[in-house]
Formats: sequence, C-alpha cells, structure tokens
Amino acid sequence: MALFQNKFQYNIALIGFMGAGKSTVSHCLSRKYALEEVEIDSMIAESEGMAITDIFAKYGEPYFRTCESNAIIDLKNRRRTVISCGGGAVMRDENVENLKKSSRIVLLTAMPETILERVKDSNERPILNGHMNVEYIADLMEKRRAKYEAAADIVIATDNKSVTDICEELMHRMEELEVLWKGQKLL
Ligand code: S3P
Repeated sequence: MALFQNKFQYNIALIGFMGAGKSTVSHCLSRKYALEEVEIDSMIAESEGMAITDIFAKYGEPYFRTCESNAIIDLKNRRRTVISCGGGAVMRDENVENLKKSSRIVLLTAMPETILERVKDSNERPILNGHMNVEYIADLMEKRRAKYEAAADIVIATDNKSVTDICEELMHRMEELEVLWKGQKLL
C-alpha cells in the first residue's frame, strides 16, 4: 500500500481493552507492511526484570502506571512502528498526548463476551484475575469507553473477523483518513 511504502513516517498505536487483539493485529501489521513493533508491557517487563503480574503484586498498580507512562515517553523517537499499548494506557491523558505526537491511534473493540473468550485461560492480567466474567468486563469496559473513544483516530470492531481482515480494514481506513490528515502533519 502506497501509504506504507514511503510516506508513512509515524507510528500506529493500538489501544483497546485487554483481549481486543492488539498483539495479534500488531504482528500481522508488522509482517504485512514491514513495520517494526513494540509492546509496552514487554518493554516494562524487560526493564523491571519481572512479569507484569509480579510488578502489580510487588509494587502495586500506581507503580506499574508510572512505568507505562515512562515507556511511552521513551518511544518518542520511534517511527514506522506498531506500538501495542496495555489496555489501561490511555486512561492517563498525558499518555494520549505523548502517543499523539508521533502516532495515529487505532482503537480495537470487541464485545465483552468475545473478550472473555479470548482471555479466560490466561492468568497474566492482574486486573482480571478473580474477575473472569462478562459482567466485570462489561462494567470496566463501560468505565473506560469515553477515554478510549476520545483517544482514537480510528475505531475497528474485531468481533467475528479474521486478523487479516482487521489489518486490511485498518490500512484502508488509514489511507482514507490520510487525505483529511494531510493538513495536520505529525512530528
Ligand atoms: C491492563 C492491560 C494489560 C496490562 C496490565 C493492565 C489494563 O495489557 O497492561 O495488565 O489495565 O487493561 P493488555 O491489554 O495487553 O492485556
């Protein structure tokens, strides 16, 4: 796609609830369009030398949120990279502002039932441990919805779609919006 062959000089930041498919879509975009990829959770786990669940257990959520904000700042010189954000990253306005400096922000959505199906066998998400049910997921999603939507340049629903279809839809939407974005260059 022409946009990604030469003109593409920013990043795609993928946001959305846990289990929305950010990592899977990131791998697909990276492969298809020769973009680099980084996952904010992996950056944090690496720099802290422990898993996200252990960071939550040992230091608490506020500490993790500070690591998350710092990791986003550390990405400021990245270009042509798919950035997979943790599900809570855009709850802080400063993180959205920092991401927007060099990234188009794409929100991936899914129904609570779909989310549960995708995350139920994992215990790597401290926010959901002990709350693996549709009601809890729907409630938290609703609490986060306004922040997700306000941060997003593009919204893609992922229910019942293949990862290839999602990537193609995403790129198509980016191409379309690029015409409108011409006047508002990033960087
Ligand atoms: C979180 C989502 C997780 C991870 C942490 C907190 C959240 O990332 O950052 O467990 O608050 O939604 P994923 O969305 O990649 O699961």
